[in-house]
Amino acid sequence: MRRLLVTGGAGFIGANFIHYVMAHTDFQVTVLDKLTYAGHESSLKGLPPDRLTFVHGDICDEVLVDALVAGVDAVVHYAAESHNDNSLAAPLPFLQTNIVGSYVLLEAVRKHGKRFHHISTDEVYGDLALDEPLRFTEHTPYNPSSPYSSTKAGSDLLVRAWVRSFGVEATISNCSNNYGPFQHVEKFIPRQITNIIDGIRPKLYGSGENVRDWIHADDHSAAVLLILQRGVPGETYLIGADGERNNKDVIEAILVGMGRPADAYDHVTDRPGHDLRYAIDSSKLRTELGWTPSKADFAAGLAETIHWYRDNEDWWREQKAATEAKYAAAGEQLAGAASRQGR
Ligand code: NAD
Ligand code: DAU
Repeated sequence: MRRLLVTGGAGFIGANFIHYVMAHTDFQVTVLDKLTYAGHESSLKGLPPDRLTFVHGDICDEVLVDALVAGVDAVVHYAAESHNDNSLAAPLPFLQTNIVGSYVLLEAVRKHGKRFHHISTDEVYGDLALDEPLRFTEHTPYNPSSPYSSTKAGSDLLVRAWVRSFGVEATISNCSNNYGPFQHVEKFIPRQITNIIDGIRPKLYGSGENVRDWIHADDHSAAVLLILQRGVPGETYLIGADGERNNKDVIEAILVGMGRPADAYDHVTDRPGHDLRYAIDSSKLRTELGWTPSKADFAAGLAETIHWYRDNEDWWREQKAATEAKYAAAGEQLAGAASRQGR
């Protein structure tokens, strides 16, 4: 398996995966990316041009997808609308890309008999209480909360159906919250880092008690490559690095890491339907495939990420004003939804 089609390779995790694959294999990679507001071809700058082909296009384009899938050995499917807040403001693109786009890819790998790996999220399992020891496993029932996570759950179920009904050789991985370079500034960690650089106070939704299970994007990439090479078709693998932290602790760590007082942030209106806690039990991946995270030191990874955003303002500057304008415009609508829910 040497020729990969990577969908969404100009996005955050897809780009990190391609950097990882270029450094650790001799694979040829074709990227298919629509370059939505979240896609940046510059994230792939400097990679060897003889091993990388970039195709600007939509995963919903059946003719294009068919032709590209015919020419590779395997497809790694990252492309998605990925941001919960956007899915609350405008859900339709999430249905189109995450469900219809995944269907188009599945039909193409079915027709051409190609290996498929589907990138998914721990959010398909809903959330956990703050004070229970439970973590998600491959057997946790699906219970998604947001338009985003429900479309990711829908795409996972399509993959399972194409495995069972049509014998497609597919694996699925559900990963926890990633952080690292090339993450869009709409997301929690880069939003706060770039706010601080711009002299804006970081924004914490609600009380900040919500817990996310942080993993460095490189550890996610290593796990995906391993599943692609040694995973069992038809199986699902959960990916997580035991990185549970509440949002308040993370925002304080960012502030202190950037030389500001730990309390120099604002509480803002909570996200409607905000999931309380995610936590991954990745025993299956560790015991069956021998994966271990190599960047599980969150403090070190966060310091490196702060450094990256300080050093790469050229990469994020253009996104920043548009992102904050989108948050400002959505603010009233989200606040309205939250108050209707009695929050
Ligand atoms: P992202 O928003 O940074 O990137 C998404 C990429 O997909 C962009 O380059 C965009 O241009 C492209 N894209 C969107 N619609 C497309 C379409 N119709 N056709 C072709 N390309 C299209 O997302 P991300 O954070 O890198 O997430 C990538 C994948 O990983 C998603 O499937 C997401 O559900 C999953 N995931 C993300 C996380 C996380 O913490 N960010 C965790 C677990 C799983
Ligand atoms: O768990 C995996 C998921 O992680 C992925 O499937 C999603 O694609 C990815 O976006 C991420 O979802 P979250 O909703 O957890 O990520 P986000 O960065 O939007 O928010 C992380 C937490 O921080 C969440 O509890 C909301 C909170 N938050 C977010 C923003 C943008 C704030 O408190 N303030 C903010 O400004």
